[in-house]
This record gives sequence, C-alpha cells and structure tokens, in this order.
Amino acid sequence: MGLKEEITRRHTFAIISHPDAGKTTLTEKFLLYGGAIQTAGAVKSNKIRKGATSDFMEIERQRGISVSTSVMTFEYDGKLINLLDTPGHKDFAEDTYRTLTAVDSVVLVIDCVKGVEEQTRRLMEVCRMRNTPVMVFINKLDLEGQDPFDLLDEVEKELNIKVTPLSWPIGIGATFQGVYDLYDKDLRLFEELKTKVEAAAVHIDDLSDPRLDEQLGGDAAALLRHDVELIDGVYGKLDMGRYLSGHTAPVFFGSAFNNFGVKEVLDTFVRIAPPPGPRPTDHGEVLPDEPKFSGFVFKIHANLDPNHRDRIAFLRVCSGRFARNTYYHHVRLDKDVRFSTPTTFMAAAKTIVDEAWPGDVIGLFDTGQFKIGDTMTEGANFNFRGIPEFSPELFRELVNNDPMRSKQLEKGIRQLTDEGVAQLFTQQPGNKKIVGCVGDLQFDVIRYRLEHEYGAACSFQTMQAHKACWLTSTNDAVLQQFIRTKALQIVQDKDGNPVFIAPSGYMLELERRNNPEITFHTTSEFKTLAVDKA
Ligand code: G4P
Repeated sequence: MGLKEEITRRHTFAIISHPDAGKTTLTEKFLLYGGAIQTAGAVKSNKIRKGATSDFMEIERQRGISVSTSVMTFEYDGKLINLLDTPGHKDFAEDTYRTLTAVDSVVLVIDCVKGVEEQTRRLMEVCRMRNTPVMVFINKLDLEGQDPFDLLDEVEKELNIKVTPLSWPIGIGATFQGVYDLYDKDLRLFEELKTKVEAAAVHIDDLSDPRLDEQLGGDAAALLRHDVELIDGVYGKLDMGRYLSGHTAPVFFGSAFNNFGVKEVLDTFVRIAPPPGPRPTDHGEVLPDEPKFSGFVFKIHANLDPNHRDRIAFLRVCSGRFARNTYYHHVRLDKDVRFSTPTTFMAAAKTIVDEAWPGDVIGLFDTGQFKIGDTMTEGANFNFRGIPEFSPELFRELVNNDPMRSKQLEKGIRQLTDEGVAQLFTQQPGNKKIVGCVGDLQFDVIRYRLEHEYGAACSFQTMQAHKACWLTSTNDAVLQQFIRTKALQIVQDKDGNPVFIAPSGYMLELERRNNPEITFHTTSEFKTLAVDKA
C-alpha cells in the first residue's frame, strides 16, 4: 500500500467527556467492535477511582496502566483507527488538551441527565481553537434524562457549535424504547445488550408505515413522527463541509453501558471522520502525503520504572513514512537521531514497529532528549505549531526543604515540567521557582515524584495568583516599560518569554484597560490559535 492509501484508511481521534459521562465505557465498546478486546471490562479505566482523589499512590498506579492505553489501535470496516486516550481526572486536563493537538477529530460524550458540564465546556473550547471536527454521543438514555430537544439547545448554546441529530431517541429513562436512525432510516429497539454486538434493526423508510405503531405503540409512534418532522425543519441534513470545519456536530443518542446506539456512532465515524490532514508549522502547512517524514512529540511518560530513567515520548506522525533505525532530524537540538525500538500499542501490548504512517502515534525510547512540542523531520528545519500551554489555575512557589539536594530538585522539577506534569515559571532576581498546575492533585504528584525519583524534598507555598498571561505588543518600548514597572509580577516561562501573573481577575481587567497597546494572552501559542474561519 502506498502513502496515499495508508493516509486515507486512517482515523486518529480521541473520546472526550466530563468525568463519569461514559468515556471509558464507550471506548471499551468501540474496542469490542474493533475486535481489539474480547470481553467487556478489559479496558482498565485510567480514571482515579472514586474516593481516592487525594491518593497519589493511586495516580502512580494509574500512570503505569495508562501508558499501555495511551494509544489503542484497531481495525474496523477496512479502516485503521488510532484512539488516543485522555486522562479522566480534571486535574490532569492539560494532558488532555495536549493530546487533542495530535488527533484529527473527537467524539464528545455527554450524560443526558447532567447535560453540558464544566469539563465538557473546557474541552470543547480547545477543539474550537483548531476547528477539530466533533461528533456528539448523548449517553445514558436508560436513565431519566433531560428532554432531547433541550439537550441539543444546551449543546448549541453552551458549546458554541451547531448540531445535526443523526439518530433520535424514543422516550427516555423508564419509557426509553430505542432510537430511530435518521440517516439509514432504521428503527432500533432497546434491549439491555451489554455483550451482544448489535441491536436488531427494522428498516422503516416512511414514518407513516403502520409497523411503527405496532413496534412502539400509538402514542410513542405519534411522538416520533412529530419529533422527526420538527428535526427536519429545524436541523436539516448534515452539512459535511461544516462538520469537517468543526462548525456542526452530528449527534447520536444511546446507552454505552448497554451497548446501545454505539455501533451507529462507529459506523458513521468511519464513514465521515477526516483522515490525517495538513498541520501548521512555522514554515507553512505540511501535508500528510509529503514523501518526507515529519512528526511532533505531544506527550512524555517518564520514570515508569524508578530503577531506570526510562521515558517514552509519544510522537504523532504528520507526513511521509517513518522507518525504524533511520536517522531523523531533531529540530530543536539540531541533531540527527535514530530509534531502534519504536513501539505501537495494540490492545495494551507494546510491539516494535518497522514503519509508521501519518496519523499514527509511536512511542520513542527517550533518554531525556525530548520536550513536549519537539519536531522530528527528515532533514527539514521547521517546527510544528499549535501545542499551546494554557494558563494554569493554581500557582505555588516551590520551596527547597533540603539545601544539600538542590541540584536534584533543580533537575527533577525541570524534567517533570518537560514531561508536562506542570508548568514552571522562574522569577529573577533570586531564581524563584513558581509551579503552575490545573488541580491540587498535581502538586501532590510532583512532591511525591521529586522525593521518590530524585531524592529531593520540597514543599509549596501558596501565592496570590489568578492567571498567567503571555504578553505581546506591537510597541516594544511600551511592553518593556510594563515589564519593568510590574517586575514583581513578571516571571519567565520555560522558553524565557515574559509572563504576567495577574493576582486577580479584577487586576487583570484593570491592566488590560490601562495598557491598551499590550495584549494579555492566557495561552502561550496565541499566534496560531483562535483562528475561526467561520
Ligand atoms: P468516564 O470514563 O467518562 O469517567 O465514565 P465511565 O465510562 O467510567 O462511566 C461512568 C459511570 O457511568 C460508570 O458507572 C458506568 O458504568 C456508567 N455508565 C456508562 N454508560 C452508561 C449508560 O449508558 N447508562 C447508565 N445507566 N450508566 C452508564 P460506575 O458505577 O461509576 O462504574 P462501574 O462500577 O459501572 O464501572
């Protein structure tokens, strides 16, 4: 098979959701259909177990498991699907945001009882930044959820995306009878399937068909006819162009736990989801079918075995063919390196691969030469863009509790932040270190890992901080003046860029108003983000 064929048969995506909406359950059902696992329950949930939220030993255990489920590859309907896993816990949301830079589309799971939740909103903001195509699965229809029309309204308003339902539920909770597939015009009646793979379908082209009344009863049939008429009028047919540009999301209803409505999602996914597409770099776009290999690192797993300083860097192939034992160019280090044991992850088993194609994710053995965002090429000197850092939510000053182990602490915190566990800012004079995280748990993880992996002792001191803002201005003199006068609130990010730590939302607004020539960005890759082509 040539490069073009390899590209068009691939789909690389992630399933995202607010914790507990059903991401793990849906993942497992997809893998069952793909034949990657044989039994339900085989996918180890990578979420932190309930009641264990402050237990970072549990996180360490999960870290071990999640490396093997980082990329799940399976075949379905002639397509090769790479499903990238994302952490379930909201404190590790940044990891999810980075993973989203490596996918070509997403499936968003929403709990029909809870509707759009906090994490759903944030994840969708990230998808909207790069116009990632989104399919929505509204889950748990076997529970007493909200009215489906209300749910669609909520999705449109809260997530800033138009929707087109492709299936429609008949009743909900106790009255749930099944779904009508608006695309294939099949009626699927609900059974608690769990392990069986497909619900029997009755093809009903014309909804005035009396078989509908026989199957559903008069009232439910009348309601379905009424609903479908309304859907046709309000939402119309799916506009593929708008789906592919991330502006309209096809919506499905079902129950992942009962394996109901899942196959429709997967069947439609392989039909309409985009293959690997072009990727932005600082030298223009790179097309996947360019013959020369290129890719970028979006995730690093380190020190899984404390006895060996081994790390795995996850690289997404963006163009050309990657081959084992071949020298490639590490752009940031300006150095050629080769890999003798690149791995893929097929159903939790690591296998060495000889080649990989655009859309694939490979694990590279890393002795510390990689940072998140690094680009590898077949000689060219460009860098992939679009792996932003988002402003952390919590900021603490790192305090060294064992001055004899300063070197270890310095090395440890640098390596952990290279790995993306947290963001590190420094402040001069005094080389003060400020660690920024999304959630409290991350600080526990850092303290634990610094102690166990580097033998360093530290604590964290809380500080008054609301957001980190990267600064730009067309007037450099004004920017430098601001940096001087606000020296106490200015820090440097890992690349030496000036960052303003706003002590409160109010102060940030005030500074924005007082300094109209300066732009305060809450993501680091502001130049290539927020491009809404609508
Ligand atoms: P997550 O990865 O998004 O965090 O969610 P996960 O799949 O773990 O699902 C969260 C809970 O919701 C699980 O129950 C799961 O069984 C349940 N669930 C998933 N899909 C459905 C559905 O269609 N209907 C209903 N009623 N429940 C569903 P749990 O009790 O937290 O865990 P478990 O003991 O079942 O593993």
